[in-house]
Amino acid sequence: MPQIPQSLHELSVGQLSARSGAAVSALHFYESKGLISSTRTSGNQRRYSRDALRRVAFVRAAQRVGIPLATIRDALAELPEERTPNRADWARLSEIWRGELDERITQLHRLRDHLTDCIGCGCLSLETCVLSNPDDVNGEKMTGSRLMPERARLPGPEQPTGQP
Ligand code: FES
Repeated sequence: MPQIPQSLHELSVGQLSARSGAAVSALHFYESKGLISSTRTSGNQRRYSRDALRRVAFVRAAQRVGIPLATIRDALAELPEERTPNRADWARLSEIWRGELDERITQLHRLRDHLTDCIGCGCLSLETCVLSNPDDVNGEKMTGSRLMPERARLPGPEQPTGQP
């Protein structure tokens, strides 16, 4: 990773990209979303203060664990006087985000556990399929393909059996 001299207080987008590992397009995107900011030179080139390195590292770390950009932006906006997040901030926010991540992990486990049955079934029913309707109550108990025999036992209109 290229070193940036300590005497350099402002970074070009290329320097920030090289040092942070984020693509230039990603940095522009972060800026458009208000996650980092820059000033412009007289030649209209972007210049970032050195603390943008820490902000980009923070954003990338949070993204890596699945935190949405809007949530990251809100967290950064809550810091006093828009200061750069430090170790204590990261510890506090990661504790807040833990519950959200646990919930997502639980949902992913459920989806993973039903995936094989769903691929075999293929109905993608909005009423019963855990893939089409991940919050479905029945989806927690069983997948649609297993509901079929249960539905056959439910009272309802006479079904032709096809048997003489
Ligand atoms: S495809 Fe998911 S229950 Fe049928």
